[in-house]
Amino acid sequence: MDFNLTEEHIMIRDAARDFAKSELLPGVIERDEKQEFPKEQIKKMGELGFLGMMVSPEYGGGGMDTVSYVLAMEEISKIDASASVVMSVNNSLVCWGLEKFGNEEQKQKYLTKLATGESIGAFCLSEPEAGSDATSQKTTAIEKDDHYVLNGTKNWITNGSSADFYLVIAQTHPELKHKGINAFIVEKGSKGFEIGPKEQKLGIRGSDTHSLNFNDVKVPKENRIGEDGFGFKFAMKTLSGGRIGIAAQALGIAAGAYELAREYSKVRKAFGTEIMNHQAIAFKLADMHTSIEAARHLVMKAACDKDNGENYDLSGAMAKLFASKTAMDVTIEAVQVHGGNGYVKEYHVERLMRDAKITQIYEGTSEIQKIVISRSILRD
Ligand code: CAA
Repeated sequence: MDFNLTEEHIMIRDAARDFAKSELLPGVIERDEKQEFPKEQIKKMGELGFLGMMVSPEYGGGGMDTVSYVLAMEEISKIDASASVVMSVNNSLVCWGLEKFGNEEQKQKYLTKLATGESIGAFCLSEPEAGSDATSQKTTAIEKDDHYVLNGTKNWITNGSSADFYLVIAQTHPELKHKGINAFIVEKGSKGFEIGPKEQKLGIRGSDTHSLNFNDVKVPKENRIGEDGFGFKFAMKTLSGGRIGIAAQALGIAAGAYELAREYSKVRKAFGTEIMNHQAIAFKLADMHTSIEAARHLVMKAACDKDNGENYDLSGAMAKLFASKTAMDVTIEAVQVHGGNGYVKEYHVERLMRDAKITQIYEGTSEIQKIVISRSILRD
């Protein structure tokens, strides 16, 4: 496998790095403290093409490959994982799902706005009783005349209040179990669609996570994605790619914390020398660097599989499993290298440690990744 980056890849990575340093770093601590959505910054990310990177230029996107996308995700996540989760959901789940499975009218009406960042999207699968067990959808979509009537509750929805368009998974034919599930595009402001209060979170506090209630919401039939009953496959296929984006986010969180720890070890003195000269610290940095490189290889492998038209269910799940564990392990060590300073906000590593945890939970917990991996290696 050739992981050599092209000039274009390097240009995209550097553009994301510059943007993160100049536009996201100022105010990142305050936004975390106040749970404030990075509205202006997300708008600029849309203008720069970071919200529809892989969408065809025909629909307003950047027409880039998955490798470019993971490089940009890593750089944005090094500085602000709240901004990168917005980017990840919009690119991997919403834009990709619509471009791959939506019809031409849906692409013209919705994808063109989502790809440019004029509108933001949300992906609504999880429910109070259907998180990991995604086939147990309780939200119903009952067919009536020229529309469907949606009833139910969705939980943990990223971009819950900032989105304009929501991809909602719901059960239409309960007797058919997962084969009776559909996916719909629901517009904000639809009658009966209510956004619940914002969740008070441990990490990625700048992103807005809400529950959503659907009370007899009328959704036009033309807003169903794909054939009747395609919704569960739509969700699974979309999440497979989503996991590559989240793996890149986890990698970025780990790399950001590692870089801060490495630089800190060169300036902080203890026992008469810079702490990097103590093996206790140098060995930590060696372990952190090694895990990050291993995670980066898995992320790149999954991105290359997707770009080469190979199956990426297995490589994406492995990348997410390993990169999210790396994010957790490395950020904890980065706090340790900083000592007391690591425990206070101005050094950034405590925030990265809190942000890391969600990467082991969303788009399928680590246990879900192990289900996907073990099924793939044992049954295929
Ligand atoms: N691609 C295509 N089809 C797939 C698929 C995939 N990757 N994975 C499963 N399927 C199909 C199967 O082939 C099967 O179809 P058939 O009946 O036609 O053969 C069907 O889907 C059911 O599959 P399973 O029997 O494997 O289903 P399961 O109930 O055993 O569950 C699971 C599989 C992998 C555990 C799945 O439920 C899952 O991924 N759960 C986690 C859900 C999740 O990630 N939730 C996170 C919410 S989104 C989020 O976090 C976004 C955000 O805001 C950040």
